[in-house]
Amino acid sequence: MSDLNSLLRPGALGPIPRDASGGAHGSGAAQTAGDDVILSVNNIEVVFNDVILVLRGMSLTAKRGKITTLLGANGAGKSTTLKAIAGLLQVEDGEVPRGEVLYDGADVTHMPPDEKVRRGIFLVMEGRGVIQDMTVIENLRLGAFTRPKANIADEIEQVFSYFPRLKERRGLAGYLSGGEQQMLAIGRALMARPKLILMDEPSMGLSPLLVKEVFGIIRRLNQELGISILLVEQNANMALKAADYGYVMENGKIVLDGPAASLAENEDVKEFYLGGGERQSFKSVKSFKRRKRWL
Ligand SMILES: Nc1ncnc2c1ncn2[C@@H]1O[C@H](COP(=O)(O)OP(=O)(O)OP(=O)(O)O)[C@@H](O)[C@H]1O
Ligand SMILES: [Mg+2]
Repeated sequence: MSDLNSLLRPGALGPIPRDASGGAHGSGAAQTAGDDVILSVNNIEVVFNDVILVLRGMSLTAKRGKITTLLGANGAGKSTTLKAIAGLLQVEDGEVPRGEVLYDGADVTHMPPDEKVRRGIFLVMEGRGVIQDMTVIENLRLGAFTRPKANIADEIEQVFSYFPRLKERRGLAGYLSGGEQQMLAIGRALMARPKLILMDEPSMGLSPLLVKEVFGIIRRLNQELGISILLVEQNANMALKAADYGYVMENGKIVLDGPAASLAENEDVKEFYLGGGERQSFKSVKSFKRRKRWL
């Protein structure tokens, strides 16, 4: 089986200049959030501890009601991008000194995270982040912290309709399996009635069967509830199957983007990511010289 994931490694793509005609969504130029665009990240930089520059002019766009995926090697800056969008950099002494994040027509770059949750942005963190010594129901209630307590019973039922096996789990979340914890983390996001869910590697640590199940649920949430999804993944095969549009990032910025189907089918991408056999450096891929024709 081709293993796209293992090829998403640091340095793999080399210093590829972005083709100016790169893609409809994220070709680097600042964009305004139109009606069909729910999220627009325009040329942001992220700095930690005043000195460590992690994002270097990162831009991407998520269309309303669509699934957008962000791929990249370990350390490329995927989680940092999601934290910047959700407003969660401050706890790590990080900030966005340049660029802007537009959400639903408003500049939310420096908005506090709880206000972003109120407006409908919810981050499902890498490693799930469920509270281990709380029950399933208590974890779900946490997700509804911005909402009137009276109306959350219906949401809890709705979460159980997507994740029936959570309903039977009465004990502490710490005793749930990895897959169940992932489902609980997504369920907790649903409790906030989100318009945009940012998902950080939902497939992490799950068996292939569970990965399929979780991706199936992500698609249903998108199709049945109309929730827009920005999906960070290392499981590029699965992510490109689920998504409408994809971005590949490296060293703090986007190096490639396009409709998910064409990214998955693109000869250059296949040659590089799905090439199999010996790992190659990007320069040794024969189409390197034709890189202007990417996408
Ligand atoms: N709080 C922080 N302080 C300093 N550097 C950080 C901090 N958080 C992340 N970094 C650095 O920023 C870079 C990008 O990290 P990030 O976690 O965003 O990568 P990632 O693409 O999510 O990787 P992975 O696939 O391993 O999750 C890394 O080099 C990391 O060491
Ligand atoms: Mg990460």
